[in-house]
Amino acid sequence: MKGLILSGGKATRLYPLTYTRAKQLIPVANKPILFRVIESICAAGIDDIGIVVGDTAEEIKSTVGRGGRWDAKITYIQQNNPLGLAHAVKVSQDYLGDDPFVMFLGDNVIQGGISELIRQFQESDWNAQIVLTRVEHPEQYGVAELNGEGRVVQLVEKPKDPRSDLALVGIYMFTSLIHQAVAEIKPSWRGELEITDAIQWLVEKGHQVFPYVHRGWWIDTGRPGDMLEANGMVLEELTPVIEGYVDRDSEVDGRVTVEKGAEIINSVVRGPTIIGQRSRIVNAYVGPFTSIYHDVTVENSEIERSIVLEHSVIRDIPARIQDSLIGRNVTLNRSPMKPKAFKMNLGDYSQVGIL
Ligand code: DAU
Repeated sequence: MKGLILSGGKATRLYPLTYTRAKQLIPVANKPILFRVIESICAAGIDDIGIVVGDTAEEIKSTVGRGGRWDAKITYIQQNNPLGLAHAVKVSQDYLGDDPFVMFLGDNVIQGGISELIRQFQESDWNAQIVLTRVEHPEQYGVAELNGEGRVVQLVEKPKDPRSDLALVGIYMFTSLIHQAVAEIKPSWRGELEITDAIQWLVEKGHQVFPYVHRGWWIDTGRPGDMLEANGMVLEELTPVIEGYVDRDSEVDGRVTVEKGAEIINSVVRGPTIIGQRSRIVNAYVGPFTSIYHDVTVENSEIERSIVLEHSVIRDIPARIQDSLIGRNVTLNRSPMKPKAFKMNLGDYSQVGIL
């Protein structure tokens, strides 16, 4: 069985962070989401993985490499335009051949991994297995309707009037029959070849599509709020380790990870939180559910429920920073210059909430 990870597409809802970085490479609990996806596929015993890439191909290739660090073989598949998830399968057909495969969206984070699902699928004679979960706003997802016996009746992509609250999680298992379905379907109203329509084609032709209802958490990290939520969920599952330096004047609780070369000086750090390599927390408070990536400085400031990316500096900020996603090489400090005013140099689509 092969793995297919979809990492093309444009992440407009995560602007401005994704102007300069592939969304699948944004770290959650200090590890890129895409690495977490690769790890869960490898943990299920699959080591032949294709990654569909688009505009951000070079960045993904140079960060992920050929797969050596996971003992896997990674093949990159170029998709020149993000024309839909089924289109991504179409461009991967040469790579996939006749093999069954698991398709995993590169921006999804799921609790508990996929080993059990893969085992079930390999032991079955199903043509497809889909993963569903109950959500509050089904209209934002692909939605499945099941009958009284739990069989799939209908799948619709982002319906205005959802017939159930069961959303398609971005993990699918297919036999090679899916290639026939993908060849038969037409683009949707949004101009994309939808994988939901391809699966619906299988259902209508009487093929076996098995629905699995996932009960743990699952997050599609499409928007900043989702990213922070995923960060919190993953942090809660980390086994904390202190590999950096914590001075005697600091208070660091049992759910905090301090990576190598990081320093906590005269500060309070509440877990679950992770402080990345070579980062410095000085006279500061870092509250729960926060990921500080590597080479960051937080000094004379307070921050909680946030993600701060590499090489950023937060210094002398008079109010607590909360629920924030701060990109790379950002400087946030107090300016002594007159007139007293907010001075900002923000990228397009930045959002700042001021007291
Ligand atoms: O997250 C679950 C949802 O994912 C499902 O409920 C929907 O049925 C499914 O269509 C999908 O919807 P999204 O609108 O969230 O998909 P998105 O455009 O965000 O793309 C998901 C991933 O696939 C993302 O990592 C980018 C990648 N992608 C997307 C497209 C459209 C590609 O690699 N190529 C593409 O052509």
